[in-house]
Amino acid sequence: MAIRHFLTLRDLSTDELNQVIDLAISMKAARNENRQEPIFAGKVLGMIFEKSSTRTRVSFEAGMAQLGGDALFLSPNDTQLGRGEPIEDSARVISRMVDIVMIRTFAHDIVERFAKYSKVPVINALTDDYHPCQLLADIQTFVEHRGPIAGKTVAWVGDGNNMCQSWINAAIQFDFRLQIACPEGYEPDQALVKEAGDRVMVTHDPATAVAGADLVTTDVFASMGQEHEQQDRLDKFSGFQVDHKLMSHAGERALFMHCLPAHRGEEVSAELLEDESISVVWDEAENRLHAQKALMVFLLQASS
Ligand code: CP
Ligand code: NVA
Repeated sequence: MAIRHFLTLRDLSTDELNQVIDLAISMKAARNENRQEPIFAGKVLGMIFEKSSTRTRVSFEAGMAQLGGDALFLSPNDTQLGRGEPIEDSARVISRMVDIVMIRTFAHDIVERFAKYSKVPVINALTDDYHPCQLLADIQTFVEHRGPIAGKTVAWVGDGNNMCQSWINAAIQFDFRLQIACPEGYEPDQALVKEAGDRVMVTHDPATAVAGADLVTTDVFASMGQEHEQQDRLDKFSGFQVDHKLMSHAGERALFMHCLPAHRGEEVSAELLEDESISVVWDEAENRLHAQKALMVFLLQASS
């Protein structure tokens, strides 16, 4: 059987994605009711981190431990990855020793090259282009609060970055409308927008994007690796803060999400982030744990 990877949301069919979301919801209940089984006993997850992380590391590592498995934290600082060992060689070696691998890195082709040479499933835990694990948690969170996302309207306000592009993939796979507002010059990949057809629209006006939305979401102005652009981006993204005023253009029961970490007073106001009648960011963060456990169950079963 072919090894299944999760490099973008497009690697699973819509049915498979929905299966993962349903499993995540039931695994969450199992954990809350103390009925988790050690289904990953003897399994090892290799975690390669070339960028910082709180949520991703803690959720994968805790998730493996809760299900009886182990996780290895591998940083370029103390592996040969940081000393130039080719990714193709690292993939062949590491994947002979562990059962599943997750990678957080810069260029997206690094996870593609690793997956090509890996004997075990590879999960993209964030690249410059995509962050699909976050989207599993986000869709789970929406489903838990509002039911199926198909046919709904989501607004993205901010940079056309890895999160925005993952929302475009989600719009394609889960069939909802996505209204994106970003400053000129910060749009998501044009070819991807085109592929999404009339499900996705791009504007430069936040209020237009947010109009009638069931969910409004954003992310930092400068992503990891763009720290040197922070000051310039603060100017260019002026007017792109999501706050209660902007949310007033959205649908009556609209939710707010942010993958975190958040920069209060930049892309989101402190008041909105903390307003738990609208903001579901803490549920969203917790769901990383459940969604990724379900994803690992799916990939390991589908690849065996
Ligand atoms: N949202 C997210 O991926 O957070 P971390 O960078 O803390 O992992
Ligand atoms: N766009 C952000 C997401 C962090 C989870 C980044 O890449 O830094």
